[in-house]
Amino acid sequence: MKFKDLHNLFVECRSTRRFINNVSIPGQDLHDLVEIARLTASSKNQQPLKYILINDRTRCADVFGCLGWAKALAKWPGPEESERPAAYIIILGDSSVGNSLSMVGAKYSVDPGIVAQSIMLGAKAKSLGGCVLASIDRDKLREAFEIENKFDILLIAAIGKPGEKIFIEPMPADGSPNYWRDDDDNHHVPKRSAEELVISEYISE
Ligand SMILES: Cc1cc2nc3c(=O)[nH]c(=O)nc-3n(C[C@H](O)[C@H](O)[C@H](O)COP(=O)(O)O)c2cc1C
Repeated sequence: MKFKDLHNLFVECRSTRRFINNVSIPGQDLHDLVEIARLTASSKNQQPLKYILINDRTRCADVFGCLGWAKALAKWPGPEESERPAAYIIILGDSSVGNSLSMVGAKYSVDPGIVAQSIMLGAKAKSLGGCVLASIDRDKLREAFEIENKFDILLIAAIGKPGEKIFIEPMPADGSPNYWRDDDDNHHVPKRSAEELVISEYISE
């Protein structure tokens, strides 16, 4: 793969929150995304993450009722019924795997974040879209899916056929990282420039 193509994948891999809900996501697609997650880097190679795959309509509604959407869009209550994700992957940490306390930093280290990005990129490569969610009513979700206590509920990947246009923007003058919607209801996401991010360089050629 050429860097240009990979860059394009990253440009297109935006957090999508409005979907074409009547397009179902085959179970095989969700299994394919776990196959990508399985190959992702893991702190000390402990691989403590486990997954619950959901495309059943009733069970999707159960997940949806546990999620918080787009805090920066104060007036938007979240996707309407016809716009909701058609599938979810619940990302769990299995506390019985290895010695999670010895992992770098927080429990499970940064494994959930990397895996979530793998899943998002995989979804985009399948012409799907998704959103990683950490705003989860974990007690409610645990009860609804009878998730054993040895599993920590870490993140949820919402997945579906994208039903919104999203544009990357430069950071505004006031430096606010808040995303916004325009008059046509298109979504805009400000990103810092690469120049702002590189604080020094020691490059000889
Ligand atoms: C760890 C993590 C947790 C997130 N949690 C939520 C969430 O609970 N609800 C939501 O609507 N978006 C959530 N997002 C999506 C971010 O809001 C999104 O990444 C950000 O607005 C930038 O948009 P972009 O992903 O298109 O670059 C989360 C993203 C990450 C990486």
